[in-house]
Amino acid sequence: MILRYLKYFFTAKRRGYGVHSPFAYNLAIKIFKDKKNIEKYIEIEKLREKLLKSKQEIEVSDFGAGSKKMLDNKRKVREVVKYSATPKKYGRLLSILVDKFQPKTILEIGTSAGIGTLYLASGNKNTKIFTMEGCPETAKVARNNFANFHNNIEIIVGEFDKTLTKTLNKIEKLDFVFIDGNHRKEPTIKYFETILPFCHNNTVLIFDDISWTSQMHEAWAEIKQHEKTKLSINIFKMGIVFLKEEFYNNEEIILFY
Ligand SMILES: C[S@@+](CC[C@H](N)C(=O)[O-])C[C@H]1O[C@@H](n2cnc3c(N)ncnc32)[C@H](O)[C@@H]1O
Repeated sequence: MILRYLKYFFTAKRRGYGVHSPFAYNLAIKIFKDKKNIEKYIEIEKLREKLLKSKQEIEVSDFGAGSKKMLDNKRKVREVVKYSATPKKYGRLLSILVDKFQPKTILEIGTSAGIGTLYLASGNKNTKIFTMEGCPETAKVARNNFANFHNNIEIIVGEFDKTLTKTLNKIEKLDFVFIDGNHRKEPTIKYFETILPFCHNNTVLIFDDISWTSQMHEAWAEIKQHEKTKLSINIFKMGIVFLKEEFYNNEEIILFY
């Protein structure tokens, strides 16, 4: 991971300089300049602080690649949040992307305590969000967290293999997808391929932790070269995929974020 980061650090384009695609350049400018929505993150960060102090203990279901650091099934909510919630910097990015692309529907694969979901929702209060979580007790924590924020978030509880197709059939048309659960190569590629028939020309897909492990690095290598991927942006932690047919040369832009 350190070597991968060093390579990224020395090759990534800074603040959009050297990005030739006008679409990607404009997006980079928005990401780096858009500071106007700071207030809306404050409430989410207050919630994170509260959860990080929580002594509540829950029984979590083990799905394999949830976290490298947790070994038994009893967890303090504060540990769940500490190890799996999207950090503020990347939550902000999710919010900016939702604000920019104004999706009508968002699918999040992997809810955890719902911090990432709340950042997604902060980008556009009218977007309907479907978020999927396998662990019932974790989902309960997320549901409580959503209660004080939004009523347009639906949690689907169950193992992704059992719930994904059903959820996709229900949503029918995906505008924006955040894939942040079960960070292993085969499942990640499988989710991508399962999701694709429900996507359209303007769908935006975000993969989290693409540099976390060799498996995720390999998964990203396949996803960015997939025939349906027309443009991708790699910010080291996350990979953003665009399917727009007009970007026929399938370029990967590595941006420093
Ligand atoms: C990294 S966390 C999600 C973090 C969240 N998206 C955020 O931004 O705060 C991944 C979640 O996916 C769930 N998960 C992992 N593999 C799963 C599977 N195969 N089926 C259902 N849930 C799974 C875990 O229980 C965990 O809560």
